[in-house]
Amino acid sequence: MKILVINGPNLNMLGIREPEIYGSFTLEDIEKELISYAAELDSNISLEFFRSNFEGEIIDKIQSALNCFDGIIINPAAYTHTSVAISDAVAAVGIKTVEVHLSNIYSREEFRHNSYIAPKCLGQVAGFSKTGYKMALLGLYEALK
Ligand code: DQA
Repeated sequence: MKILVINGPNLNMLGIREPEIYGSFTLEDIEKELISYAAELDSNISLEFFRSNFEGEIIDKIQSALNCFDGIIINPAAYTHTSVAISDAVAAVGIKTVEVHLSNIYSREEFRHNSYIAPKCLGQVAGFSKTGYKMALLGLYEALK
């Protein structure tokens, strides 16, 4: 089972960026934890990680997942609230996708309450910090196996 994990803009700044909201761990910490968790879950899970600040690159990566990946975990970061194009890409490839947010976007500013991407996803996990990525993987795994 091949899972693509996509992280959007500013998530490379985890560890430095607003630690009171996002915690003091890094994106690398999240990726390492997810690799260990995947191995615990099922040795047939393989993960690929991609991160970009650029909307078009994220869209290219989603398109390139067609016929290559069984599932996608995506934290689109700020593009969650703005990107019809990423939403369309998720719908276009038809790959089961789970949206993740470290913070609870519904308890934050009003502009973060809407996601263009979640309606095209299997589900959304928000507010559980880095554990949310593991929750997303478990949900995808159960849906795909
Ligand atoms: C985020 C929430 C977004 O609103 C924000 O723009 C981010 C991170 C999260 O993981 O909590 O960059 O996606």
